[in-house]
Amino acid sequence: MSKIISGFSKFTKEEKIAWLTKNYFHNQSDTVNIIKQYWNVDNDLQQLHDDFIENTISNFYMPYGVAPNFLINDREYVIPMVVEESSVVAAASLVGKFWSTRGGFKTKVIGTTKIGQVHFMYAGDKAELKNYFNQNKTELFASTASITKNMEKRGGGILDIKLVDKTDKLSNYYQLHVTFETKDSMGANFINSCLEAIAKKFERSDIEVVMSILSNYIPECLVSAEVSCKISELGGEDPQKFAEKFQQAVKIAEIEPYRAVTHNKGIMNGIDAVVLATGNDFRAVEAGAHSYASRSGQYSSLSHCEIKDGIFKFWIEIPLALGTVGGLTALHPMAKLSLEMLQKPSARTLMQIMAAAGLAQNFAALRALTTKGIQHGHMKMHLQNILNQFDANDIEKEIVTGYFDKRTVTHSAVVEKLNSLRTPKIHWVNFLDEHILRTQLSKLNKNSKPIFGLMKAQQMIEHLSAVTQIANGNWDVSVFVSDEKTARRKPFLDTENELQIGFKASFLAEEPSDLKFNSIEEAIGDLVYQIEIFVKVFKYDKSRTVIHPFFGTLDFEYWKMFQVKHFTHHFKQFNLR
Ligand code: MEV
Repeated sequence: MSKIISGFSKFTKEEKIAWLTKNYFHNQSDTVNIIKQYWNVDNDLQQLHDDFIENTISNFYMPYGVAPNFLINDREYVIPMVVEESSVVAAASLVGKFWSTRGGFKTKVIGTTKIGQVHFMYAGDKAELKNYFNQNKTELFASTASITKNMEKRGGGILDIKLVDKTDKLSNYYQLHVTFETKDSMGANFINSCLEAIAKKFERSDIEVVMSILSNYIPECLVSAEVSCKISELGGEDPQKFAEKFQQAVKIAEIEPYRAVTHNKGIMNGIDAVVLATGNDFRAVEAGAHSYASRSGQYSSLSHCEIKDGIFKFWIEIPLALGTVGGLTALHPMAKLSLEMLQKPSARTLMQIMAAAGLAQNFAALRALTTKGIQHGHMKMHLQNILNQFDANDIEKEIVTGYFDKRTVTHSAVVEKLNSLRTPKIHWVNFLDEHILRTQLSKLNKNSKPIFGLMKAQQMIEHLSAVTQIANGNWDVSVFVSDEKTARRKPFLDTENELQIGFKASFLAEEPSDLKFNSIEEAIGDLVYQIEIFVKVFKYDKSRTVIHPFFGTLDFEYWKMFQVKHFTHHFKQFNLR
């Protein structure tokens, strides 16, 4: 059955959700729950958001972070950023602070002119069209009077209207190319309304208006931001080398489009985050920035770097069409809050703040790329995310973060490290140290109770001695061995893991063996003696291997590894440490 629907926009929100979940989801109640989970509990606030667009069914959260310590033209800022990519806010904060102690960002608005065009077709005489335009130019301005009145009061309005002949590119195609100053508003509605009024006035039977629309290509609505310092002030191990490599990275982005696109994407990581936080139009900003980056005919870097007379200078020039009044900036409570955080900037000031945020982001990316590599920082964030996911406490975080400072972060490695911290410490027994052995075992008496298992203390000591004798050659257990199984088991000896409680090799009898010695002391003496033999037999024949009934053929090193685990297991059994 077709799912094409008419009248959807007339449905209530509940009806829209019901139709959607019924037609496009399997688990309808789960889907409805998720959709509603993101509704704001304040109905009025939810209604406000519902009304921003059409067919709203819920909200989509993005993290809202802040980057403190930005010094821009000697004024301090905390920059609000809305972005889903980890590391962006951290990078901005770090770089903001870095440059705050080196003079901060110096920014300048180069121009604020915006552009709109009336695109039209005219097949008649060119001179006559030019005449018609010149004669009516004042009328064209006048046609927008009611729209421009308020804007003019604020110092904005239409700057100029030009007739442009484009017939060399497309036959009969001309434009009215209109330039605007929109002051603190982004001006999209204002520009489009003016253009439509102009088009209406200009149109006549032989002039066919195709469309009237602003341009997001705004090379004259331009801002620059710069940081500079003595190379020696850049810090690090070798600041000269760092500066040179950094400059090379920028030069590569200037001439290599594949790199330039990613380079500029990094810049936009910073800019878009502020654009979103302040309720501006990120698509317009993106379109403007990337078209400006291609203005020479080849896509290139938006930032540049110079090293001269021992000074490192890094700067950006970027077009930004922004507003700090009207549109979403006036409606969205969080956008308003962002603008307040930025000390209620004019659009010009906001352009400068964003250019600084973009340059900071670019500096962070290039610094990482040309030194530790980008994954280092990303992985650090990734690490923190994993630690949070596993509810790591502050001490665990400090230990694990330190551990991964020079190691590769992977999800499994972090979890393993965290688990190793969380499992109680194993007190591995150095069975070759007679003093330790005697001190610990002398704590036992015939009343000592095991924590697990059936053995009594002396039986346990005699058992350790008996197993040691397998290695010594006094007890042949090779009949119990399956090559296939032992091959699978042997790698266990290489791990940090203990023998599990309840572990029992199949060659052992169900019940503990009868006692061989008259006292615990005698049994300890025998164990010490068997260990001496153990060391000697392997020392005598360095290539000696002996079959262990559970782990297979083992040399001295593997036997020792087994013995450590085995002794540790039985010491734990009697709570010896
Ligand atoms: C990732 O979001 C941005 C970077 O790729 C920018 C760059 O390569 O310059 C790190």
